[in-house]
Amino acid sequence: MRELQALEAAHPALATPDSPTRRVGAAPSGKFAEVRHVVPMLSLSNAFGEEEVRDFVRRIEEKLDRRVLSFSAEPKLDGLAISLRYVQGMFGQGATRGDGASGEDVTANLRTLKDVPSQLRGSDWPAVLEVRGEVYMPRADFERYNEQARANGGKVLANPRNGAAGSLRQLDPRITAQRPLAFFAYGLGEVQGKLPDTHSAQLALLASWGFPVSPLGEVVNGADGLLDYYRRIGERRDGLPFDIDGVVYKLDDIAGQREMGFVSRAPRWAIAHKFPAQEQSTRVEAIEIQIGRTGAATPVARLAPVQVAGVTVTNATLHNADQIARLDVRVGDTVIVRRAGDVIPEVVSVIAERRPHPEPPQWKMPAHCPVCDSELVREEGAAAWRCSGELSCPAQRKETIRHFASRRAMDIEGLGDRFIEELSDLGYVESVADLYKLQLADLLEMKRRADERDGTTPETVKAGKVATKWAENLVAAIERSRETTLERLLYALGIEHVGESTAKAIAQWFGDLELIRRLPWPLFQRVPDIGGEVARSLGHFFDQRGNQKVIDALAKRGVRVTDTHAPSAKLREGLDLATLLVDLEIPKLTELRARQLVIAIPEAERIASATVQGLVAAGLPVDAAEALAAWLKQKANSRLLLDGFAMQKALLALASRLVAGAAPLEGRTIVLTGTLIAVTREQATEQLEALGAKVAGSVSKKTSYVVAGAEAGSKLTKARELGVPVLDEAGLQQLLAGRLP
Ligand code: IVH
Repeated sequence: MRELQALEAAHPALATPDSPTRRVGAAPSGKFAEVRHVVPMLSLSNAFGEEEVRDFVRRIEEKLDRRVLSFSAEPKLDGLAISLRYVQGMFGQGATRGDGASGEDVTANLRTLKDVPSQLRGSDWPAVLEVRGEVYMPRADFERYNEQARANGGKVLANPRNGAAGSLRQLDPRITAQRPLAFFAYGLGEVQGKLPDTHSAQLALLASWGFPVSPLGEVVNGADGLLDYYRRIGERRDGLPFDIDGVVYKLDDIAGQREMGFVSRAPRWAIAHKFPAQEQSTRVEAIEIQIGRTGAATPVARLAPVQVAGVTVTNATLHNADQIARLDVRVGDTVIVRRAGDVIPEVVSVIAERRPHPEPPQWKMPAHCPVCDSELVREEGAAAWRCSGELSCPAQRKETIRHFASRRAMDIEGLGDRFIEELSDLGYVESVADLYKLQLADLLEMKRRADERDGTTPETVKAGKVATKWAENLVAAIERSRETTLERLLYALGIEHVGESTAKAIAQWFGDLELIRRLPWPLFQRVPDIGGEVARSLGHFFDQRGNQKVIDALAKRGVRVTDTHAPSAKLREGLDLATLLVDLEIPKLTELRARQLVIAIPEAERIASATVQGLVAAGLPVDAAEALAAWLKQKANSRLLLDGFAMQKALLALASRLVAGAAPLEGRTIVLTGTLIAVTREQATEQLEALGAKVAGSVSKKTSYVVAGAEAGSKLTKARELGVPVLDEAGLQQLLAGRLP
């Protein structure tokens, strides 16, 4: 972008009106001009059930006197209709629907959308072409936007639809440019030129000119084809990346469309078939605090049960205290709840007119955890309150166990909420590793104590023997879960920000829990899509002794990962010192500077001990050199640099070995002695063995190499006596890279 700006400044004559530099940053226009639609922008009639769809098809069959008609069936996106006018292939004007006859000129805002081509591809387009479609906000982008707004105390968007409409009607296009808007083309307005004679062929042509067209569109036949499409899209609705409120059926044949014509403001050749609404209103019966596995205290609204998008909803998240303050939700209020996809239902807004009299009091965050009574605290700048009780808080402990045992984690069937409550409350299970200590007798004893406590009659069955089936099943399920995959175990540990897909990626890239639990955190960023925040969270988790103890205890009690493997060969890219420096997020050290620095000082050890002058001499600007030196002054930081570098080398060796494929050290016997710096002796042994070498404990005539680290003693002497080649650490690195020195 900068390069383009510079070029345009130097050669103004070459700057085109559709240049990306003009897409953002235009000054506020003050007010939108009116645009008259040459071809009106119509709406659609709705069909709410199967019969109405059959009636729609029947009417067309009768009027056209044809049977088995083809229809273009498309998702009905929930956004905002717009019209884009192209003259000679260049985007000239964009407008909202307005009242259908005229709308608002939002050209400058539409130019900021990457989905709106400024220049059409190809050359066979009509001289004048108006493309109609929907501007929308993808669900994930909407969630991300709101999460950020919430964290910054900004204004949240009520739903993706409002988000799209509000963003497009900004007076300052720079604001629109920051909103994650997308566009789908679904039809045409004014056209001066020739086009194909079916709607589906027209859409295909629009796609070839560069417009996004819904990949979910299909041509189907007759009412049965339409209803089948409705059912299939309905099944996929929750998983789609955007909100849809129904599907649209359009007669595919354009001549037929013309013949059908219009009623008032809707075509007779098209209809919208709606899905159940994603928003409903209901009453807030209480506002409670829920404590999550990491201690986050989330306010939750208990609701009068209501059907939303086909599911009964009784709870909805209120996110955090700020959100409640912004919405001013009070117990007794009638609110709009929204459930989109598999996203947790949330309270969107309060219907102010329906607040009860006298007014209920404003809601306040309680001072203490409702479960363990520890103080609820809020970190500097954070939106969320947390219970300060950590693992002494039964809620956090139980959530950790619940997550660990859940189906997509360790999948311990039968370990339901009730057992988790009792195992935890009665002290049988404190950490997830304790699950693997449980014996049949413990479970039966727990049950007896729980029955006594509750005053219920023990289940001594009338037949005279004790019912133990449930306990046997649970013990068997725990037993079964002992063998698991790395990705499941990583996910099950409940590391903040590490969901299933992140766990899977880490498992694929590193392959081994022993490696992962010792990995310096910056290196997690070598996995695509893992950034600083997630990497730090992983590092923080594995830095906690308590967590490492739990992992040790799991292993001791027989939990075993069955798919341990060597790190991915893809890792080799980016395992270099400059990338490490960038991943460390050192203040003022840009990527460019890191690369320059490493050219001048190619070793981590020398960078770690460099002075400000030395860093300046290596080409860093004074402020960056000072920032780096100050950063390195912290022992933990220079340690991280050195450990990270050593681990990079070890990983590189492991990943390279896979590429070579063979066992390049097959038949060699190697003895390690003295103190190694770049890798531990255990790591070196493991890697050498993986490369086919035998690692021996004593030196003999058969020894191929002795690797001597610092302060090597008698083995080094013996090697010299026998004439066995002696390698230093650089030599070891060569071996680890699969090369014989
Ligand atoms: S066709 C003459 N196709 O739904 C037909 N509309 O209720 C004009 N919409 O204003 C509309 N997805 O904003 C059509 N695939 C689709 C659509 C779609 C969403 C919206 C559009 C329109 C409204 C009509």
